[in-house]
Amino acid sequence: MRPIRKVVIPVAGWGTRSLPATKNIPKEMLPIYNKPVIQYVVEEAQQSKIEDVIFVTNRDKSVIEDHFDYNLQLESVLERAGKLDKLEEVRHVAEMVNIMSVRQKKQLGLGHAVLCARGLVGDEPFAVMVGDDLMFSGKPGIGQLIDVALSENMPVIGVMEVPWEKVSRYGIIAGEEVSPGVFRVSDMVEKPAQHEAPSRLAIVGRYVLTPDIFDHLQEVKPGIGGEIQLTDALRSLAHARGMMAVRMEGTRFDAGDWAEFLTANIYFAMQDEKLHTELTALLNRFVM
Ligand code: G1P
Repeated sequence: MRPIRKVVIPVAGWGTRSLPATKNIPKEMLPIYNKPVIQYVVEEAQQSKIEDVIFVTNRDKSVIEDHFDYNLQLESVLERAGKLDKLEEVRHVAEMVNIMSVRQKKQLGLGHAVLCARGLVGDEPFAVMVGDDLMFSGKPGIGQLIDVALSENMPVIGVMEVPWEKVSRYGIIAGEEVSPGVFRVSDMVEKPAQHEAPSRLAIVGRYVLTPDIFDHLQEVKPGIGGEIQLTDALRSLAHARGMMAVRMEGTRFDAGDWAEFLTANIYFAMQDEKLHTELTALLNRFVM
């Protein structure tokens, strides 16, 4: 398989779970400690040697692209004020990756969003990262999948075990564990009822795909919720050419879930030595 240079990040969703915070701010721009959610996702891609980021976006999301561009006015203010650390920080964000974007003009589902990127991806394998899913581990999440995709020459999806009562929120796979943490996928289903789920192995928003996925996306009919589901096209791709799943290592936060979003904020703030003591003291006052 050719090296993975591009990632598709769908960001056209409404963020209804995070309202009213997201009434006028994209959910991807909500901060986790001192960076917007989307920056963590792009950093994971960059750490995995991905150079080109393709945002699948809508008319209200241009601030996401701006975040990864230079802001010359701000830079000159910081320079004149001698705030060189801050200057370095904001410039760095603009220099991380190349940014491309394509509009998803109708919100027809995650599968449809990925299909919108077909022209920009072209005929090469690529990654997909769902912007709500934050993954943290020693080895960057999408990088864990890229290694297996390259060695097995197959599409690979990231999975994690979730409690049975949560399987209906995810795409769930069936598969045989061929080596520790690596599964050969035999089937998958989007948001199954608990009694219909083939396992507790949930797809967690990280995928390495081959360009033939686009043909399958073009063929699938609207699935659960009336949406073009990526999972339905993946199922068809898995049957046509084989697919692996990797049990991902690390911690995952669903940024669209308030409890997890707030925990992620504390998790990152606690890692900042300057904040640790003060934050611990404040939390102790409020949390029994
Ligand atoms: C999407 C996918 C689902 C996956 C989930 C991970 O669902 O369709 O298969 O398990 O992301 O976050 P959504 O959360 O967009 O409903």
